[in-house]
Amino acid sequence: MPIHYNEKTKEFHLQALDVSYIFTILPNNQLGHLYYGKQVRHRENFSHLLRYQSRGYTPAVYEGNHEFSLDLTLQEFPAYGTTDYREPAYQILQENGSRITNFEYKTHTIYQGKPKLDGLPATYVEMDEEATTLEVTLEDSLLKAEIKLLYTTFEHSSVITRSAKLSNFGEQRLNLTRALSSSVDLRDANFEMIQLSGAWIRERHIKTRKLERGIQGISSTRGASSSQHNPFVALKRPETTEHSGEVYGFSLVYSGNFLAQIEVDHYDVTRLTMGINPFDFNWLLESGESFQTPEVVMVYSENGLNDMSNTFHKLYRTRLVRGEWRDKDRPVLINNWEATYFDFNEEKICTIAEEAKHLGVELFVLDDGWFGKRDNDTTSLGDWFSDKRKLPNGVEGLARKIEELGLKFGLWFEPEMISKESELYKDHPDWLIQVPDRKLSPSRNQYILDFSRSEVVDHIYKQMEAVLAHAPVSYIKWDMNRNMTEIGSLHFPSERQREIAHRYILGVYDLYERLITRFPHILFESCAGGGNRFDPGMLYYAPQAWTSDDSDAIERLKIQYGTSMVYPLSTMGAHVSAVPNHQVGRKTDLDIRANVAYFGMLGYELDVTKMSTEEKIKMSKQITFYKEHRNLIMNGTFYRLQSPFADDGNITSWMIVSEDKQEALVGYYRVLARPNPGYKHLLLQGLAAEKQYRIVGRSQTFYGDELQNIGLLLEKEFSGAESSEDRIVGDFVSKVYKISAVE
Ligand code: DGJ
Repeated sequence: MPIHYNEKTKEFHLQALDVSYIFTILPNNQLGHLYYGKQVRHRENFSHLLRYQSRGYTPAVYEGNHEFSLDLTLQEFPAYGTTDYREPAYQILQENGSRITNFEYKTHTIYQGKPKLDGLPATYVEMDEEATTLEVTLEDSLLKAEIKLLYTTFEHSSVITRSAKLSNFGEQRLNLTRALSSSVDLRDANFEMIQLSGAWIRERHIKTRKLERGIQGISSTRGASSSQHNPFVALKRPETTEHSGEVYGFSLVYSGNFLAQIEVDHYDVTRLTMGINPFDFNWLLESGESFQTPEVVMVYSENGLNDMSNTFHKLYRTRLVRGEWRDKDRPVLINNWEATYFDFNEEKICTIAEEAKHLGVELFVLDDGWFGKRDNDTTSLGDWFSDKRKLPNGVEGLARKIEELGLKFGLWFEPEMISKESELYKDHPDWLIQVPDRKLSPSRNQYILDFSRSEVVDHIYKQMEAVLAHAPVSYIKWDMNRNMTEIGSLHFPSERQREIAHRYILGVYDLYERLITRFPHILFESCAGGGNRFDPGMLYYAPQAWTSDDSDAIERLKIQYGTSMVYPLSTMGAHVSAVPNHQVGRKTDLDIRANVAYFGMLGYELDVTKMSTEEKIKMSKQITFYKEHRNLIMNGTFYRLQSPFADDGNITSWMIVSEDKQEALVGYYRVLARPNPGYKHLLLQGLAAEKQYRIVGRSQTFYGDELQNIGLLLEKEFSGAESSEDRIVGDFVSKVYKISAVE
């Protein structure tokens, strides 16, 4: 879609599928925002959208012109300190103590394609025709500094991405005390804000609140994007539902401390700023240096939250996730963590793997405990060599045995961490994230390696490379089990200490990049005690993420439903585990555990050797079913039908539909049985109105429009005196319907 620039009126008009985004060069040569929303026809002049009016108690930009004040103007990349009092996109502390800047339009270019961002993850194109990019360069002539604003529109979706690069071409040293990626001023405040918030084992729960005057927002200060708040917010109209109404979604492609802030001002203008959290941040920009901010992905939809999610899903599945595994069928795996924890040896592992292979599993993943002397979580992180007590033939010997069984082999690492009881700590006590003369706070008995130092990243790379070069490893689970405290580096001078959290994340990205370049066949799954760093930044390197350490089917309904607000099913690791569940102690049957895990990348995390014959038969059938539908689950369009976050929350349902609308899977889940309910219809989505569909197991066929408008009649629920096979009875019950178009 085109990006227009009108020389006469000095206006930019970006058009993506259903979207228009318009900004202009203001009379003071700074950038002003005009409109972001549903697409409008291009015209040569939108200057009537700029309204100037003199108001009391408002400072003006120029003497003799009381009408032009930034306080009254929508801004494109705002600064604080002249006439705009809202929180800015950036702030630069200069050697004379001043924080006042004046970045004026200098030049711009528009071209096909999308550039890479130095050292940072970002969405990409495979062919230049897929996207159009606008680069606007602003200059502060006093400082001899530039800001380059980058905008990309994608050809076939309502996506606009943004980032900014700040460069110092002057003599003095500049301190960036705030360097956000984007700022958008929307013309009213009639919105509700949606955020994905939670904690360990209850990640990404959907929260909604009405915008109010003042500042509201979410952020992370933990050194990781966190499970407390995902780096995503949406602004929806109060009447917007899953399937109708306006919504703006903002997702940050970054894995560290972030801020997503919404300020509603005194005229009900809404400013949404997003980027690296300015709290505890400062970046020293020496003469000749540049600072690249992470990318913000903005999605607009006039068709509800689900449509916004689908746009994110498609973009992230096809143009954020990279490499061989992007489009390949992901293997059904078995992971030994909840089966053995640290207590295993080669024989035990091989027995589990062999049994799993018989049941159809394709990949065995050896979790924590294979290295150093790690019998519990107090030791050995950083010592990435095999523990010969448990694995006499090393990881290499075990991996070969697993391959001989006909399975692929996967391995757990926690590259960013160190235990004080380790060889690595003995040799390099200064390699921890730390500040001088202060005690360090432990978490899970471990500490964080200072990945802001390239020699630390090099060392871990070499250790991992040595393992991976010799053992046939097809998959890596990259874990990260604590957040930062006492943030600092012994390597950097005092004025750079507030750079460390960001430098650390750049180090993590660097290690990922080196490993995937050296081992392109390995499938990476990111993990952070489950979903404590499930973000788009990670997905650029690791196509899937361990969604949560909570493997309970009922808790997973909320976690997976919330996660789907931004992330496609192909990114969500979902495992069937043993009961009573290890996180919440709940007992659910094997059917619902699989029926939930099917809507993700399926794995098993239990000791198959302890399962009954009946359970094994079930598991084998489940895997066969999953493999038959794996392509649909990975690449289909996902629809949320009934929300576990609704008032009652007793029912969750969702479905996935193939691109050609020939087949679909519907998941229906009920938490608790309710006495004597009425008959229920489930309104489906995404089918072709004119196609006839068969619900597998039922004799009748139905047109798509009937299934979507009248609904799919569900099984009877009433248990009463009689019982029959096709009834949904009891607590924690579920059903997966397979729907196929009739030729
Ligand atoms: C946390 C992960 O989320 C678990 O799946 C497991 O890998 C443990 N760490 C191992 O320490």
